Amino acid sequence: MSIALVTGANRGIGREVARQLAEREYTVILTARDEEKARSAADELPGDVRALALDVSDPASIAAAAEEVADDPGSLDVLVNNAGAGADFGVSGADPDFHAIQQSLDTNFFGAYRLTVALLPLLRRSEHPRVVSVSSGMGGIAEMGGWSPGYRVSKASLNAMTRILSTELADEGVLVNSACPGFVATDMGGPMGATKSVEDGASGVVWLATLPDDGPSGGFFRDGEPVAF
Ligand SMILES: NC(=O)c1ccc[n+]([C@@H]2O[C@H](COP(=O)([O-])OP(=O)(O)OC[C@H]3O[C@@H](n4cnc5c(N)ncnc54)[C@H](OP(=O)(O)O)[C@@H]3O)[C@@H](O)[C@H]2O)c1
Repeated sequence: MSIALVTGANRGIGREVARQLAEREYTVILTARDEEKARSAADELPGDVRALALDVSDPASIAAAAEEVADDPGSLDVLVNNAGAGADFGVSGADPDFHAIQQSLDTNFFGAYRLTVALLPLLRRSEHPRVVSVSSGMGGIAEMGGWSPGYRVSKASLNAMTRILSTELADEGVLVNSACPGFVATDMGGPMGATKSVEDGASGVVWLATLPDDGPSGGFFRDGEPVAF
């Protein structure tokens, strides 16, 4: 039995990643910051899908969730850091909203980083541990443009975490990668005109979550193809 935990999985890409992993017979721990929403999303999905409350911006919630997973099921094969917030889309970097930048960092970077470190002892028990962080092309420094500074910096930081941890964990066989889902028609992307389906956006994430042991680590991919960091 392989076990996967997905954050922010009550809707959007996270929910679809949970669905696709359950379809591949993973036991999925579907997490959401609202416990009721986690439960109803888990109930709606076929397969072995369990609900867990987890607000990644709250270190106490991370500690409590890690303890619950350590108690039962006691190990973890796949972590998908999907939860994300776009608190300052379209805001000028020259006229920033520092509160929104902090919010973006708390969820998109500190949340994913703290959770990954909290779950590392459980991932180390896996024979095929995988960490996938759902990033964004907007966090790629090589082609970075203006606006949305909090979102961009938080995703660039997330990508840095991928590189740091993939390097340090290489000898232990933990494959750590970042994924850009593309411009996906979710509650986040839809209002900005995204047309890519949620299924297609999630499939590149699931590919990284289910890599074979000789798969890449320390990479940044969209639809299975490398993206510039
Ligand atoms: N859609 C796109 O075009 C696109 C493009 C590039 C990257 N991405 C990334 O893809 C990921 C998923 O986005 P999406 O498009 O599916 O957006 P979405 O539909 O807005 O879903 C975001 C999810 O993150 C959760 N979340 C936000 N803050 C959280 C927190 N503090 N703790 C736990 N969960 C939290 C939300 O929960 P609530 O329901 O409680 O708010 C929701 O489940 C994000 O990391 C996003 O940055 C999306």
